[in-house]
Amino acid sequence: GKGVIIAQSEQEAVTAIRDMLEGGRFGDSGRRIVVEQFLSGPEVSVLALTDGEVVRPLCSSMDHKRALDNDEGLNTGGMGTIAPNPAYTDEVAAKAMDRIFLPTIRAMNAEGRTFRGCLYFGLMVVDGDPYVIEYNCRFGDPETQVVLPMMEGDLLRAMIATREGTLAQADFSTRDGFAACVVMASGGYPVKYETGKEIFGLDANGQIPDGSATVYHAGTKREGGALCTAGGRVLGVTATAQDLRSAVEKAYTMVQSVQFDNAFYRHDIGQRALKALEQ
Ligand code: GLY
Repeated sequence: GKGVIIAQSEQEAVTAIRDMLEGGRFGDSGRRIVVEQFLSGPEVSVLALTDGEVVRPLCSSMDHKRALDNDEGLNTGGMGTIAPNPAYTDEVAAKAMDRIFLPTIRAMNAEGRTFRGCLYFGLMVVDGDPYVIEYNCRFGDPETQVVLPMMEGDLLRAMIATREGTLAQADFSTRDGFAACVVMASGGYPVKYETGKEIFGLDANGQIPDGSATVYHAGTKREGGALCTAGGRVLGVTATAQDLRSAVEKAYTMVQSVQFDNAFYRHDIGQRALKALEQ
């Protein structure tokens, strides 16, 4: 969403290009542009560890980038996630490894820029084939909030193996089941929002008291003894379960136990994935 225009017509594309090259939209960063084929299909985020030799993908996930239900409203950093992503079948995963993941690290090696760390592959699945939408050299947010709970094994050891070039032997895998994360944001996000609202319903560690979900803090701070909002996306509530519907329901139940003024969140996180699973 940052600096990307998805043009629905040729005229829209021409106007966007003029705005960037002649109108100064996006400032100096908008003076060099990339034009890409329009793709349509489910998006998949794959966070993968690589030591420059092998790529070990963590559990696939699905972000929900628009601010409002039914994928309406403005693009955001992400309003919620589920993992694994039903569009990322074993067949798609095998193609992604052969056509995208390994060629990517080999190309970086060939350029003398071996990458060790977490590569974020933003993919789109078009008629059963994965395409790259974007790369990031980092974990995703809020993907990480569902990917790490799905990881069986020790993250720190996996990271050390990533650094030391022994990732092929690292002992971690993806557990069975599903995870869902619902992001609670400040009213008005991603445009204009207030901060400094007290957050209720969490214990002294900033967690749900009964421990049935994990709260990931994004835009929070302590003011005196109180936990307050300090950003647009305030926190993410993640729950896990054997099936996706239960994970989603659990996350939403826990979201309702957390309150702050003008809190808002999407009500349909996981619905698209549930429909895909039912097909
Ligand atoms: N959730 C999108 C990102 O981390 O870039």
